[in-house]
Amino acid sequence: MEISWDELNRQIAGCQNCALCRQIHHKVPGQGNPQARLMLIGEGPGRDEDEQGLAFVGRAGQLLTRMLAAIGLSREEVYICNVVKCRPPDNRTPLPEEAAACLPFLRMQFALVRPKVILLLGATAGRYTLGEDFRVTRDRGHFVQKGGVWFMPTYHPAALLRDEAKKRDAWEDLKAVREKLKETE
Ligand code: URA
Repeated sequence: MEISWDELNRQIAGCQNCALCRQIHHKVPGQGNPQARLMLIGEGPGRDEDEQGLAFVGRAGQLLTRMLAAIGLSREEVYICNVVKCRPPDNRTPLPEEAAACLPFLRMQFALVRPKVILLLGATAGRYTLGEDFRVTRDRGHFVQKGGVWFMPTYHPAALLRDEAKKRDAWEDLKAVREKLKETE
């Protein structure tokens, strides 16, 4: 039987399956429309997210909000979460064992939301959903269909803040997502 949102959030709140939870302020489970047609997956909480307990609320998150608005979507319409629900120290990439400990939660979120399209933000999201050999520079911009769901990998918004030149490609990826959402209506 499918788990409920309450039970899932209770499990995330109580999780001690890896060491990340020892040095955080808040778990960041994810938020948004529990029946969204579009789900977004990032890497893991940063400092602002750890302070507020909400995904993508810092600078990268503010850019993400503007990117969504550019394709006519509000944050309330989509579901936003991360591969890991606890902030890795100094914002380092989650270790494979940390991601592995947290992935069951992502799978449960996916099973509850049942999105039509998933936007993968950056290499970590790509690797843990599409496979270890995922490379964001090579694979972004190409839809992958898995289990009836369309995955679009794109750059992480933090990468766009570091390198403005990537914004053009990210915009193409977002427009493709907008089209796919129309097609799958
Ligand atoms: N970067 C991420 O990958 N996720 C967040 O929630 C914030 C920044």
